[in-house]
Amino acid sequence: MIKVLFICLGNICRSPMAEAYFKDLIDKKGLTNQFFIDSAGIGSWHEGKPPHQGTQEKLRENNISFEGIRARQITLDDFNKFDYIVAMDEENLIDLKKLSNNKTDVKVVKLLDFVEDQLIKNVPDPYYTGDFNQTYHLIESGCQALLESLRIKYHI
Ligand code: 4NP
Repeated sequence: MIKVLFICLGNICRSPMAEAYFKDLIDKKGLTNQFFIDSAGIGSWHEGKPPHQGTQEKLRENNISFEGIRARQITLDDFNKFDYIVAMDEENLIDLKKLSNNKTDVKVVKLLDFVEDQLIKNVPDPYYTGDFNQTYHLIESGCQALLESLRIKYHI
């Protein structure tokens, strides 16, 4: 089983959107049993809360379930437990390195690095931009490219 953890700052806008999108994608491809998917935030401010209203709207618009998704803060144990820790932006990467005392290795990656010819390398934070549409489209292409990369690597 391939274990993937999506990370953003608050775990209410971007990473729960990526978690829900990726779960839906692997479900459509019949790959659900091959994965364990979760998301978490760098901060704990929204612990226990469902995704932001804007994230919920985009997911509903696209018929993607976010049932059971609640915000939580990343723990040190997550660094051992997951095969891939997928950050939304460079700031998340810096925070992840600090949190793990620089013990992050190849498993800590950035979502949009998987997308070829993508000039935007960080998923903008709609908590500040208000643009959930732009964020959704970037997460969509990032998750599709991430899955393709994992399918090649793990021959699934
Ligand atoms: P996210 O957005 O990292 O995409 O979930 C944020 C949500 C909340 C806050 C920051 C970013 N906050 O400071 O409360």
